[in-house]
Amino acid sequence: MKRIALLGATGSIGRQAIEVIDAHPDLRLVAAASGTQPIDGLAPRTQVGGDLTTLLDESEPDLVLNAVVGFAGLPATIWALEQGVDLALANKESLVAAGELALEAWARGKGRLLPVDSEHSAAYQCLEGRDPASVETLVLTASGGPFRGRNRDELGSVTPREALAHPTWSMGPKITIDSATLANKGLELIEAHFLFGLPYDRLEVVVHPSSIVHALVRFRDGAALAHVGYPDMRVPISFALTYPERAETPLRQLDLASGLSLEFSAPDLETFPLLALARRAGEAGGTYPCAYNAANEVAVAAFLDERLPFLAIAETVEDTLDRVDGAPAGDLDDLVEADAQARRLAEERLAVAR
Ligand SMILES: NC(=O)c1ccc[n+]([C@@H]2O[C@H](COP(=O)([O-])OP(=O)(O)OC[C@H]3O[C@@H](n4cnc5c(N)ncnc54)[C@H](OP(=O)(O)O)[C@@H]3O)[C@@H](O)[C@H]2O)c1
Repeated sequence: MKRIALLGATGSIGRQAIEVIDAHPDLRLVAAASGTQPIDGLAPRTQVGGDLTTLLDESEPDLVLNAVVGFAGLPATIWALEQGVDLALANKESLVAAGELALEAWARGKGRLLPVDSEHSAAYQCLEGRDPASVETLVLTASGGPFRGRNRDELGSVTPREALAHPTWSMGPKITIDSATLANKGLELIEAHFLFGLPYDRLEVVVHPSSIVHALVRFRDGAALAHVGYPDMRVPISFALTYPERAETPLRQLDLASGLSLEFSAPDLETFPLLALARRAGEAGGTYPCAYNAANEVAVAAFLDERLPFLAIAETVEDTLDRVDGAPAGDLDDLVEADAQARRLAEERLAVAR
């Protein structure tokens, strides 16, 4: 029996995780948390908002599924890594922001860190058991979002409603906007760097509209391994929750004879600058990725509130990155301060952009 603590239980990942847990006799939900919505009775222990590490201390899980959205997921990520409790990580923002500190906590705790992001779950499976020296490059695929193929002139006046209409994935609002701007792929690039220890020049992003190939690893002998499947988050959720069992699911098997479209192209970095900005922030290191994430969270919230035009999301992030010092965080307090400072700068930029 695996005792699961589910954080972000009311969200898109959280609801799909409950489906997976309910269908598996060896998975038991011992704790659940949300940000604001009531969840009484969902698990023996529940918590709405506040410090989620108290809930984790009390519920003694074997595995934490962190499906909180945004930087708010950081304390739970660090708690699990530090305690050596297996962590199924959907909350990419915490790994992006905390980077080195999270890796240090992981090295001390020695638990498993199982990615839930579909691309990283795919990459994890392609890389598992391989000699790191044999890996040439890791390719993350991007659907391209609802605005793929448009140019900047065509994006000036797009609305949150249009940006929320994702072509292949049904997800929470923040990540859906991140997919439309390609910030999601930027966050995933930095996430992959920390998860797999690969330098940025060995991480590539390609646009693949049908979202069938989730990741591909090229090896030094010329071979490449890809992970393929229909886009359905219950697959990586189930993989992480039942690892290493790879439990049976009722999900649709890939049907090759019905025809699959496997098209790939380079991302349009001019129209979607947040991908290149993420690479820049990741390569600069220190707290630049934290600032990238913080400014993006502020700008996305403002866009969803119709307080900021779509193209100004990237401008806000770029302006913030230009103004922070990016000094490495010595500890979590430093990191929280770097996050707060980037948020203040991004808010200032919003006031100008309005
Ligand atoms: N959705 C996907 O398909 C997908 C795919 C890959 C990765 N991810 C990642 O998974 C994470 C969750 O995404 P999502 O799409 O599931 O988001 P979502 O639908 O917006 O759900 C977010 C969840 O986080 C909870 N939450 C927000 N602030 C919180 C706080 N301070 N304390 C505790 N809980 C809090 C929300 O609770 P309330 O409902 O009460 O506000 C909700 O349960 C994100 O990091 C995202 O990037 C998602």
